Amino acid sequence: MVEVAPTGIEKLDKALGGGFPRNGMSLIVGPSGIGKTILAVQWLAEGARRGENCVYVSTTIPAEATVVYYGHMKFLKDVVDKIKWYDLYLSPRDLIPFTPKKMLQIFPMIMPEFFDENLNLKKPIDRLVIDSLTTIEKIIGDLPMFRYLGATWIRFFHEKKMTTLLIEEMEEEKETLGEMKNFSEATIVMDHMEYRNMHMRALRIIKRYGYNHPTYWMPFHIREEGIIL
Ligand SMILES: Nc1ncnc2c1ncn2[C@@H]1O[C@H](COP(=O)(O)OP(=O)(O)OP(=O)(O)O)[C@@H](O)[C@H]1O
Ligand SMILES: [Mg+2]
Repeated sequence: MVEVAPTGIEKLDKALGGGFPRNGMSLIVGPSGIGKTILAVQWLAEGARRGENCVYVSTTIPAEATVVYYGHMKFLKDVVDKIKWYDLYLSPRDLIPFTPKKMLQIFPMIMPEFFDENLNLKKPIDRLVIDSLTTIEKIIGDLPMFRYLGATWIRFFHEKKMTTLLIEEMEEEKETLGEMKNFSEATIVMDHMEYRNMHMRALRIIKRYGYNHPTYWMPFHIREEGIIL
C-alpha cells in the first residue's frame, strides 16, 4: 500500500484509497467555476491541519486573491496563515533554452524559502498545488514540449518527495481530459451535470494507480465547509 495524503473529505478519501498518493503527482481536471481550486485548497488545508508544509502556486489570478475569496470560508479559515501562497508569473523566456535545468529552476525562482539555487530543499514540501497548468501549457505553446515539462516535473516531485496536485482546465468544446493525465498517479474529473432538469456538480475518479476505485460520477455541493460529497 502506498502512503497517501488525505483530502479530509471522508467519502472522497475512501474512494481514493485514503487520499492522493504521496510523493507523486495527481491531477484535477474540469471546466471553469466547477470547484477545482476549492478542492485543491481544501486538500492543502487538511495537510496544514496535520502540521504539514503546504504550498499553493497560482499561475492565473494572484494567490493573494484566492486568499481573499476563500480565506474566510470554514474549510480554510483556521489554517489560511499556515499555507504558503505563491505566484508563478512565467514568461516564455524563463524556459529558454528548453532544458530540464531551466524547467526546474522555476521552483527556486518562485519559492526561495524552500529551494536553494541547486534545487536542494531547505525544508520539506509535503503538499504542493499548482493552479493551473493550463496557463503554462499556453505560454509554452507547444504540446510535445509541454509534455516534456510534465515528465521532467513528475520525476522531480518524486525525487524531492513532494506530493503534488496539479490543476488543468478542461475546455468545454474539447473532449480531451487534460494533457498531463498520462503523468498522474490519480486523476479526478469535475464537471457540470443535468439530472431531472436540475443542474448539479459531480466528480469522478478516472485513475488511481494501485487501487480499485469506483468509476461512477459522485455528485457534490460547494458550501462554506468546502466540497461536500
Ligand atoms: N462561499 C461559497 N459558498 C458556496 N459556493 C461557493 C462559495 N464561494 C464560491 N462558490 C462556488 O465555487 C465556484 C468556484 O469554485 P473554484 O474557484 O474552485 O472553481 P475553479 O474550478 O477553480 O474555476 P476556475 O477554472 O475558473 O479557476 C463558484 O463558481 C461558486 O459557484
Ligand atoms: Mg480555479
